[in-house]
Amino acid sequence: MKNTEKIVLTGDRPTGRLHLGHYVGSIQNRLALQEKYDKCFYLIADVQALTDNFENPEKVRTNVLEVALDNLASGLNPKKTTMFIQSQIPQIAELTIFFLNLVTLARLKRNPTVKDEMKQKGFGEDVPAGFLMYPVSQAADILFCKGNLVPVGEDQLPVIEQANEIVYKFNNLYGEVFPKIDPLVGEVKRLPGIEGGAKMSKSLGNAIYLADSRDEIERKVMMMYTDPDHIHVADPGKVEGNVVFSYLDTFDPKKDEVQKLRADYQKGGLGDVVIKKRLVEVLENLIAPIREKREMLAKEPKRIMEILEEGTTKAKKVAEETMREVRASMKIDY
Ligand code: TRP
Repeated sequence: MKNTEKIVLTGDRPTGRLHLGHYVGSIQNRLALQEKYDKCFYLIADVQALTDNFENPEKVRTNVLEVALDNLASGLNPKKTTMFIQSQIPQIAELTIFFLNLVTLARLKRNPTVKDEMKQKGFGEDVPAGFLMYPVSQAADILFCKGNLVPVGEDQLPVIEQANEIVYKFNNLYGEVFPKIDPLVGEVKRLPGIEGGAKMSKSLGNAIYLADSRDEIERKVMMMYTDPDHIHVADPGKVEGNVVFSYLDTFDPKKDEVQKLRADYQKGGLGDVVIKKRLVEVLENLIAPIREKREMLAKEPKRIMEILEEGTTKAKKVAEETMREVRASMKIDY
């Protein structure tokens, strides 16, 4: 490829509010990249959300606004990042149809992320075709603008891998149209849930949300899994698997103080309540400005929809340019 410039594309499914796992997994990278690159796109994947919520369109509709608010409040800047809604770009659907020829059913069924989700939802053999092929439409989400740098959570890596197989196949068959895609995973790959589960997730009910109130943060931190054998303050405590320490490591800017607390906790004499209170303050410092900005923005939902409309107009132009190339290369430019 001649053009070595990076084009950033990232997105969220509008199925619920975003949480700290999203923040460290991908939002932080989005914020950094919009300062670095001219071409940044953020897509609200409503079409993808419908693949497993098609009976519940109202839920997807309301959450379009919620995830837009979460991102704007976190610092995504619509002047720097083109924000738009997936369903409003029909070229993405068109591209999906062409990409589907390049993927086998067997390969779709082998995608580990899709497999996990299918198990979680209990689909079995009766999986809706639309759901099974969402990685193909996600490839189109990224490639309609020739995106080649994609901030995502670790769970999305198999989806990007599959997108790259599509790129490879398309370019081989029809000519070099699409770039290879580099995923970018956050420094903290997987934030545990408050109960100590491997992953913070909306569906597992173990998340701290970017819009949580101070009281909610406090309630959740007080419930957090620590060391079940650390019964008396004087007892030595374990820091491995201790969620409070994982979070302090991730979010507390004062690393040496955390180091000291860790040593004290392991030695014995440091109680859970002390470290939990510290974590409440650390999280409140991060979330309070987001929550306040969110409340302000939420007063003007019309303004948010305007931002998304402006973004859609820009994204459509880019999409049409790419589609002209795609149609020419596929000999369907009648
Ligand atoms: N599947 C992603 C998720 O669940 C959301 C998404 C849709 C996305 N299209 C995308 C992410 C394109 C990055 C690029 O988080």
